[in-house]
Amino acid sequence: MSQVDIRVVADADEAAHLVAERLAEQARAGGSVVLTGGTTPRMAYELGTQPAPDWSRVELWWGDERCVPPDDERSNFAMAKAALLDRLEQQPAAVHRMRGELGPDAGAEEYTRELAGAATFDLVLLGLGPDGHIASLFPNFPTLDVADRDVVGSGAGHEPFVDRITLTLPRLCNTRELLFLVTGEDKAEAVARALAGEPSHETPGSLARAAQGATRAVLDRAAAARLPG
Ligand code: 6PG
Repeated sequence: MSQVDIRVVADADEAAHLVAERLAEQARAGGSVVLTGGTTPRMAYELGTQPAPDWSRVELWWGDERCVPPDDERSNFAMAKAALLDRLEQQPAAVHRMRGELGPDAGAEEYTRELAGAATFDLVLLGLGPDGHIASLFPNFPTLDVADRDVVGSGAGHEPFVDRITLTLPRLCNTRELLFLVTGEDKAEAVARALAGEPSHETPGSLARAAQGATRAVLDRAAAARLPG
């Protein structure tokens, strides 16, 4: 597995600022960006719109979605809409949301069609669960071995306990840059396993490395606390 380029900063605010700068840079350059869900990236999304309010050169994709309506508070799309899309002056050239309301199987089928022919991503953002999951690829789930599809439906392996739609590992990793944003002491153990441990199905984050470029991680000190010296 390739090494991860790790940057440790003081706190969650600083981590969000760094990732926001990276998002703004990609917005100016254009290309394809895959957003992650969860709560950690919210501030980075909000801040990323300030220096770069024009995202018209970007195509937006999602790494995973919860099977809820798009205005549900658990929806990854809803979070990105409020934190990012609603703050932009110019909307992205395309917003490819996963339709969670279709359910895991039909939703995955539809996103497979949406992705057909899409090129290598430019930037894939990932969070990390305290159990080591990424997107909706959970520890020891059979979805980790799916290599012949771009998108799969899944049950929940972590809260919120609703079904999921998720990109598969090969599709997530088909990117020029894969960027983890992880903060908080509850993630420290998972960070050490995902970024410095042996690749393992017990820690899906350890299996996620950019196939076409760099894998980077922005961590706060608390999340980095268990990394080897
Ligand atoms: C999701 C995610 C998931 C998330 C991690 C971390 O839909 O839940 O995409 O993989 O990134 O669970 O989430 P937090 O930032 O909320 O801890």
